[in-house]
Amino acid sequence: MKKITIAIDGHASTGKSSLAKKIAKKFDYIHVNSGSMYRAVTYFILKNDLQNLVESDVNELIKKLQNNPIEFKFDNNSNIYEIYLNKVNIEKKLNDLKVSDYVSKVAAIPEIRKELVKIQREIDRSNGIVMDGRDIGSIVFPDAELKLFLTASAKVRAKRRYSEMINAGVNVNYSDVLENLKKRDTLDSTRKDSPLIIVKDAILIDNSNLTIDNQIQYISKLIRSKQNI
Ligand code: DC
Repeated sequence: MKKITIAIDGHASTGKSSLAKKIAKKFDYIHVNSGSMYRAVTYFILKNDLQNLVESDVNELIKKLQNNPIEFKFDNNSNIYEIYLNKVNIEKKLNDLKVSDYVSKVAAIPEIRKELVKIQREIDRSNGIVMDGRDIGSIVFPDAELKLFLTASAKVRAKRRYSEMINAGVNVNYSDVLENLKKRDTLDSTRKDSPLIIVKDAILIDNSNLTIDNQIQYISKLIRSKQNI
């Protein structure tokens, strides 16, 4: 059976990563959450107070990043790639609201996108991969056999995100989460380099009223049909 590349793009907090993780597990594929790479760079910038370089000297920022390597390491137990900064696992730092607030600005910088896309394309796809993000079907893997675009109403997404954060012990309020989502949608869709778009060969899924099991069932059929080609 053919192992394929699955690109999952879509709006913020549509459950792309949770879905990608479950699909990867079901089909024994690897899962890569590309958003975590943009978050890792953002975490590095905020931690080291480098916001001024974002505005004034992106080349200097890239140099600093090259001296403080951000790496993906595959965890055999969880079957996912986790993010390391200077050899330290920073996976748990990435969903902080401060990171979420600043990440779209960082993700709009072409030089940073170029570096991260390079790393994403170097990942071995031969055993099947599910990668989620904003430009996976359009830029990273335009040859992906299956491209999905996830969306849902902003309110539904904000509610889900809010519950997730509260459950994870993060102290936030719902309206901040909703505002952050809307802001990110606008920034991600209007940036010049690799904006969030629905490519013509993508399948659009509005999951406002779908459970994760509904979605997995539907997507599994699509995967099987592509694997058998
Ligand atoms: O999926 P996420 O919310 O963790 O993504 C964080 C930010 O990174 C979001 O503002 C969009 C950006 N991003 C991107 O521009 N391209 C990707 N492939 C993945 C994420």
